[in-house]
Amino acid sequence: MWEEFIGEKVEEIRKTVGDGKAIIALSGGVDSSTAAVLAHRAIGDRLHAVFVNTGFMRKNEPEFVVKTFQDDLGLNLIYVDAQERFFEALKGVTDPEEKRKVIGKTFIDVFEEVAREIDAGFLIQGTIAPDWIESKGKIKSHHNVGGLPERLNLRLIEPLRDLYKDEVRELARELGLPEKIYNRMPFPGPGLAVRVLGEVTPERVAIVREANAIVEEEIERAKLKPWQAFAVLLGVKTVGVQGDIRAYKETVAVRVVESLDGMTANAMEVPFEVLQRIAFRITSEVPQVGRVLYDVTNKPPATIEFE
Ligand code: XMP
Repeated sequence: MWEEFIGEKVEEIRKTVGDGKAIIALSGGVDSSTAAVLAHRAIGDRLHAVFVNTGFMRKNEPEFVVKTFQDDLGLNLIYVDAQERFFEALKGVTDPEEKRKVIGKTFIDVFEEVAREIDAGFLIQGTIAPDWIESKGKIKSHHNVGGLPERLNLRLIEPLRDLYKDEVRELARELGLPEKIYNRMPFPGPGLAVRVLGEVTPERVAIVREANAIVEEEIERAKLKPWQAFAVLLGVKTVGVQGDIRAYKETVAVRVVESLDGMTANAMEVPFEVLQRIAFRITSEVPQVGRVLYDVTNKPPATIEFE
């Protein structure tokens, strides 16, 4: 089935782009990665993959993306370090929707500058079915480069539009992407910025980045296969004790959910010893954190991400 799908899409992209150029915003997530590799098969170096480091990526993620796509898969990759610009734009912003909008706008501004230089005629996007279904319902403003095609006069190509996440994973595997990509947990476009409740500063993002890496490591070590597992910095300080001295430190929430497509989800029954190990490691390896909580809420009523 996938061979046929790949053949058709490659042909379609080739026909549409002709001898023109296309760009894609590559995040390293399974959707944009799959769309990028599919388009690369179709038009080779005439696909310019733009990777923007927002400053909200997971631990070692920028290095991993560059290595995988540029060195291993041979894509024509442009790396943009926009960290300072994102942190600057988010100064003082605490409302979740406002945050998403500022990040979305900054992303588009950065991407637009690069796109103008490349002077491409087409924009490839890894939109999948739940993206447009959910954005119709307007639960959260989703992060994508919508609005850009009109501004830049780009024609939009969305080869994964009718697929669900599990199908994209199968396709990615079929296309020869590394397991670390096709088995990756979904990660929101605005990244760790929506896992830091309240103001987004480099220091606060660094805390959640470390905590998040521990959650991912321990879930993997326990051989659990949730839809997502992550940490959130709540921005609430609580009292603790260190030696015989009072401590007053940050609280981190751990969320692990099972889901088929992200539209609904259940909190996972993670073994207690795994949760305790996570709590132990976070409080010992991330010195700013003094307490770890586990979120047992399903979606609905809660969403998967906290913002
Ligand atoms: P929520 O939090 O709405 O998330 O239950 C459902 C799924 O979508 C992911 N998510 C996003 N994915 N851009 C994305 O591409 C976004 O802006 C975004 N926000 C949330 C979330 O991680 C979950 O898997």
